[in-house]
Amino acid sequence: MYTPEMLESIKIVEQTRPRRLKETFPRLTPEEKDRLLRSFHPDHMPDAQRPVRVGPNKGDKMPHEHVGLLESRSMLDPDAFSLDRVDYDVDVLVIGGGGAGTSAALMAQEAGASVLLATKLRHGDANTMMAQGGIQAADKENDSPAIHYLDVMGGGGFSNIPELVAALVLDAPLCIQWLESLGCMFSKFPDGTMNTIHGGGTSRKRMHFAHDYTGAEIMRTLRDEARNRGIPVLEFSPAVELLTDEHGQCAGAVLFNLETQQYLVVRARTVIIATGGCGRLHIGGFPTTNHYGATADGLVMAYRAGAKLIFLEATQFHPTGVAFPEQILGQLVTEKVRGLGAQLVNAEGEQFVYPLETRDAVSSAIIRECRERGKGITTPSGRQGVWLDSPMIDIIHGKGTIERELPAMVRQYRRFNIDMTQQPILVYPTLHYQNGGILINERAETGVPNLYVAGEASGGVHGRNRLMGNSLLDIIVFGRRAGTNAAARAKTVQLGRLTLDHVRRFHEELAREGLLGQRTAPILLPDYRGRIV
Ligand code: FUM
Repeated sequence: MYTPEMLESIKIVEQTRPRRLKETFPRLTPEEKDRLLRSFHPDHMPDAQRPVRVGPNKGDKMPHEHVGLLESRSMLDPDAFSLDRVDYDVDVLVIGGGGAGTSAALMAQEAGASVLLATKLRHGDANTMMAQGGIQAADKENDSPAIHYLDVMGGGGFSNIPELVAALVLDAPLCIQWLESLGCMFSKFPDGTMNTIHGGGTSRKRMHFAHDYTGAEIMRTLRDEARNRGIPVLEFSPAVELLTDEHGQCAGAVLFNLETQQYLVVRARTVIIATGGCGRLHIGGFPTTNHYGATADGLVMAYRAGAKLIFLEATQFHPTGVAFPEQILGQLVTEKVRGLGAQLVNAEGEQFVYPLETRDAVSSAIIRECRERGKGITTPSGRQGVWLDSPMIDIIHGKGTIERELPAMVRQYRRFNIDMTQQPILVYPTLHYQNGGILINERAETGVPNLYVAGEASGGVHGRNRLMGNSLLDIIVFGRRAGTNAAARAKTVQLGRLTLDHVRRFHEELAREGLLGQRTAPILLPDYRGRIV
């Protein structure tokens, strides 16, 4: 329920609404956008980042939270840990049970490989499950993969790796068909054609969706399929270290059973990292949309094994995280709300940014409005936010549209006595996505032989800024590619003796830099003791 002060502020939003309904806020010029990002985007804040001092990216700047993890020691002592007993011996080990990992497991099994999927929490506890807005694919008459390609490149400021973008957009229509063939229920028009909408930075309506719970529908489909096909899944068993052989090839991983506190050794001819992103590192102190297990584990393990990281200096802050009520602080308010016409409005009831600029720009504009211009709305606990004028959607598209298109969000707010069909909602940027990650090629291969990566843990395809709907697409495209390619490679791989030699070497490098302390990584779960985010 809003406070009396907030209700007063909403009156101003209502007063300006009739005028704003006729108003289109001007788009930013490239120069304006550049200035805005440099001045207000959290990536550009002074002292937000520092160079990492060890490993393949030595000297590269990235957020302190990443550097801290990358400069930590392993949970395992490479001189004491025994690799004599092998608990599982498989062709393909998939680490991570979200959309990318499950797609990879399905394709690897289809290609004839023996597969084991190990995941930190339950199968499906992943950012995929929480994705709301949609999945892009250029499969309509007025669209093409070439136009999709240009949008992706533009969104990433042309920093993206072109071959990865080509793979993303060319596989996209097939991925939608694949998901449908497995039973995924996308929203459709009465004549059976797919309903598609715009997202920030898209030049065509190519966002396929399942109401406002697209990720949950995709994850349900993939998980059901994996269960039906009998793919073995180890839950509550995160990987804590990769294994290599004496030739430097990846050769499996050590898992840690969170329930029994036992380590498990998996020998695998190929390994696919699909551990997702880093939201629970709370970079820059921001709240996050991410699920509880998003602690960048895959990055840490791959880095020690010698894989290069890319674009970690670029974190995605989603412009519309919940700013009130506190109980759901930082949770996602899908971009679809703006796609359907809701405007962002300051304390004076005025628009201050075109609502569908790319996320980096909208987030920066909101931060400017609150921090520099003093036009934010203050919550009872002293946080700031701006109004997202959700009732506009029903005014534009007809009564009942919000309930129909955003059912999960309407319910989420009703739990707190806020009716978003009648009242605007308060939003502020929230940590949403790891734009970069472990560098891959279009086969989802890393520079470490036998090691593949798919989904948010990977880097390159989105450049420094991902567009909405390309993450659900990325996990399917590169999950499938990783699974197929890892299974094919597994047929020819000859593994040597299992070792933790790369960990020993990494520890030696840490020691040379005076960094071999007590802190261990991956952290597996966030530590909220004594911390308010
Ligand atoms: O706004 C959203 O629904 C988020 C989608 C995405 O990050 O792709």
